[in-house]
Amino acid sequence: MFKDLWKRRAALVEADLLKELRRTKSLDENLSRAMEYSLMAGGKRLRPILLMAAADTINGDGEKFITAADALEMIHTYSLIHDDLPAMDNDDLRRGKPTNHKVFGEATAILAGDALLTLAFEVVLRQKDVAPEILLRVLKEISTAAGASGMVGGQAIDLRSEGIQIDFETLKLMHSGKTGALFKAAIRSGAILAQASEKNLEDLTRYAENFGLAFQITDDILDVTGDEKILGKPTGSDEKNLKSTYVSLTSLDAAKNFAQAAVDKALDALKNFGDEANFLRELVKYLIARKK
Ligand code: IPE
Ligand code: IPE
Ligand code: MG
Ligand code: MG
Ligand code: MG
Repeated sequence: MFKDLWKRRAALVEADLLKELRRTKSLDENLSRAMEYSLMAGGKRLRPILLMAAADTINGDGEKFITAADALEMIHTYSLIHDDLPAMDNDDLRRGKPTNHKVFGEATAILAGDALLTLAFEVVLRQKDVAPEILLRVLKEISTAAGASGMVGGQAIDLRSEGIQIDFETLKLMHSGKTGALFKAAIRSGAILAQASEKNLEDLTRYAENFGLAFQITDDILDVTGDEKILGKPTGSDEKNLKSTYVSLTSLDAAKNFAQAAVDKALDALKNFGDEANFLRELVKYLIARKK
C-alpha cells in the first residue's frame, strides 16, 4: 500500500533531518531551537519523499539519496516560516502548532528561515556516494527552484496579487513558482541522482509540473473547505488576505476541475513507465482527495 511506504519514508526522513540538524554547529542555542521547532513539527514530508520516489522509478534505490532529500524539506520549512510572518500571510498556526514567530519572535523566525535555507545547500554536499558532477546538477536544480526564478519569485507574485484581479496566466505563473518549482526540483533531483535518461527526465518533469499545480489548487480549495484541526493551519487565510487563488478567481467547482485535469496530465506523463511508477501514480491521485 502506497501509504505505508509514505509513512515509513516520512519516519526515515524525520530521523535523518534531526541527525543532519544536530551535526550542524550553531553559534546560538535559541536559533537552533527555532530551526528544530519548525523542522520537526511534522508535515507530510512530500518533497523528500518525491525525490526518493523519482529515483526509485528510475532504478529502485531512492533511500540512498535521503541526505539530498533532507535539503528539500529544509528549504520547504524555511518557506513556511517566512510565509507565516506578519509581513506575509500573518498566520498563527502551522503543522498544528503556533507558528515560529509566535514562539520565538519575528527576528529569530526570520533567521531560523535563513539558516534552514543555507543549511540545505550544505546538506546536499553531505550526500554520499554521488559523483561531484551529478551533485552540481542537483545543486543547480535546487538553487534555481528556490530563488527569484522559482519559489521566491512566486511568493512575490502572490503578495503583489492581494486584493487585485490578476489574469489566468499570472495565476499559473504564481502557482508554478511558489509551489511547483520545489516539487519539480525534488522530482528532477531524484531522477538526476538515479542517472535517468533524458526522455525519462522529461516525462518526470511533466509529471512534476502537473503534480505541483494539482497540489496548490487543492491547497487553495482546502483553505476554503478544510478543517483547521486536520489541516494543522488556519482556514480562511486566503480570504483574510484577499489572495488571488484558483478558488477566488474562478469557483470551487471550477478549481476542482482544474485540479482533476492536472492529475490526469500527471498520470499521462507516466505512460511510458510500468509498475515502477505506481507510487507516483497513487500519490498524485491521492492529492486531490487529501484532507491535509
Ligand atoms: C504547504 O505545503 C505550503 C504549500 C506549498 C501549499 P505542505 O502542504 O506540503 O505542508 P506540510 O509540509 O505538509 O506542512
Ligand atoms: C505558500 O502558499 C507557498 C510557500 C510557502 C512557498 P500558501 O501561503 O498558500 O501556503 P499555506 O496555505 O500557508 O500553507
Ligand atoms: Mg502564502
Ligand atoms: Mg500561507
Ligand atoms: Mg494556502
